[in-house]
Amino acid sequence: MCGIVGYVGKQSAVPIVMKGLAKLEYRGYDSAGMAVWQKGDLKIEKTAGRLDRLEDKLKQNPINGTVGMGQTRWATHGRPSDANAHPHLDSEEKIAVIHNGIIENYMELKEMLQKEGHEFHSQTDTEVIPHLLEKYYEGDIEKALRKVLHIIEGSYALVVMHEDEPEKIVGARKDSPLIAGLGKGENFIASDIPAILEYTREIIVLNHGEMVTITEDDVTVTDLEGRRIEKDVYPVTWNAEAAEKSGYPHFMLKEIHEQPRAIKDTLAGRIEKGKTDIVLDEIEFSADYLKKLKKIYIVACGTAFHAAMVGKYLIEHFTRIPVEVDIASEFRYRDPIVDDPEDYLMIVVSQSGETADTLGSLREMNRKDVRIMAITNVIGSSVAREADDVLLTRAGPEIAVASTKAYTTQLVAFYMTAIKMGQIIGRLDNNETRDLIDALLDLPLLAQKVIDANENKIEKMAKRYSSKDDIFFIGRHLDYALALEGALKLKEISYIHAEAYAAGELKHGTLALIEKGVPVFAIATQPDIYAKMISNVQEVKAREATIIGLGTEGDQEIDKHSDETIHIAKTQKYFTTVLAVIPLQLFSYYAALERDCDVDKPRNLAKSVTVE
Ligand code: F6R
Repeated sequence: MCGIVGYVGKQSAVPIVMKGLAKLEYRGYDSAGMAVWQKGDLKIEKTAGRLDRLEDKLKQNPINGTVGMGQTRWATHGRPSDANAHPHLDSEEKIAVIHNGIIENYMELKEMLQKEGHEFHSQTDTEVIPHLLEKYYEGDIEKALRKVLHIIEGSYALVVMHEDEPEKIVGARKDSPLIAGLGKGENFIASDIPAILEYTREIIVLNHGEMVTITEDDVTVTDLEGRRIEKDVYPVTWNAEAAEKSGYPHFMLKEIHEQPRAIKDTLAGRIEKGKTDIVLDEIEFSADYLKKLKKIYIVACGTAFHAAMVGKYLIEHFTRIPVEVDIASEFRYRDPIVDDPEDYLMIVVSQSGETADTLGSLREMNRKDVRIMAITNVIGSSVAREADDVLLTRAGPEIAVASTKAYTTQLVAFYMTAIKMGQIIGRLDNNETRDLIDALLDLPLLAQKVIDANENKIEKMAKRYSSKDDIFFIGRHLDYALALEGALKLKEISYIHAEAYAAGELKHGTLALIEKGVPVFAIATQPDIYAKMISNVQEVKAREATIIGLGTEGDQEIDKHSDETIHIAKTQKYFTTVLAVIPLQLFSYYAALERDCDVDKPRNLAKSVTVE
């Protein structure tokens, strides 16, 4: 999610690290910082805000040294601030650490370290690492890091410098990417290739559970027991633009493929296999509070609104609290009914946290003193700052205008919220909660399975349908909410006219539009309403529509009624949307590609709609 660059060589490290960070700013841009070894001292400069702020600071307080590392950050723990920016330091300010990822057990580690007298200066999960390194350091930073890696849980790309071992930077990887770049009399470390492409095209890719030490003349990779690993050196053939997209032709495709990781990160540290606790950051709902609620309003725009619809179904199902879901541009001007503010909760959903209508709705309810919970991807955003409670989706920066990984992580945030509320209110017992949690934890793997099993097929399918003028999406219940998202994705990037309908509603008018050969995506993942959905499919089939069925693995019934079918991996009926959206995203992407559309920047649209 964040970008890291490190350099050891003979040149001045600051400009090299700054240039590298500038290439990675698309990965995160809410704060930035740097550590450079200068004549016996570890010098640190860091700041909230974009890289130009760091640049200004470095102009005022120049640092000069030939070993250095920096980060441009996308916050997941602790709002963007000078103190929360990386690097983080140990008590003696001799060890500097930069970290991408999430340390899941940081709270217990922090508590332990505080009891031992370590003082903390930030709200980040990362800060436990330099303090743990300090605790275990006995003159060998690699040895200390190995110990620490056995203690911390979660995902990380880590880079570490120690004042007393100035000739090296040490790194480690689990889940978050980390590479080493090979130069002559200089070496590099980075989270992503674009950062070092100007200096080298020879790279070593670290695998999970590997550590690396870079010095001027050497790059050594070891495992967590300190055994040396011989690594292949890859020649990079990408140009700078392809490298930014990790080799994918578009950010949208990259972001579709990032979804298993984004879902995993959003669940990380909040639930655990076999357990019943759901830790939603600092959000506390008491049973009394929830039982007293007359209504929950969920408000959002576009794709976030489609996630909100799923949230409504699930919160109502698990809590029996009435939920009203509304489009923000409508909600803010309709004077929503609030007699006693204590009786209402508002949930706003916004990837950017800056959408004008969502913010306007939030402020409207703020004026009425209603408690507001935000589900957002951007920690320091206006929505995050103005809400009472914030649940962060950890999708990382979404660059493509069409939302993909933000949507799936919003769904996951709603899954956890609905189950947690159901548990508190006493409608879900421990066994049910445990089963649901275990099913949630399977979602990253299943999402990967859906991509792997379907991408080639969908690419061919999308090409065949790309010349159509109209495509319909039908579904019921959760599948209706998904149909809306499928149609929006297709419209916005391929410019094919697409409509979504609640399948049972077709016969009240829209069926008149169905004629021979009109493609209809029939989404049928909901067992409770399956038979009704199949009758609706038969209604369109009888009008000679071409049916593309979207069902779950093992469902042969949908095959019988469809011209072709896509199957998604099996999960609990509540969670099918997060898997079933992936084929629809891929379909839209490949249809748009075939039509030569500007996939990442569709016409007339902007990523963040900050005006009304
Ligand atoms: C569609 C899309 C938009 C956004 C909407 C809300 O792919 O991205 O519909 O979902 O503009 O944006 P946020 O979530 O930033 O409030």
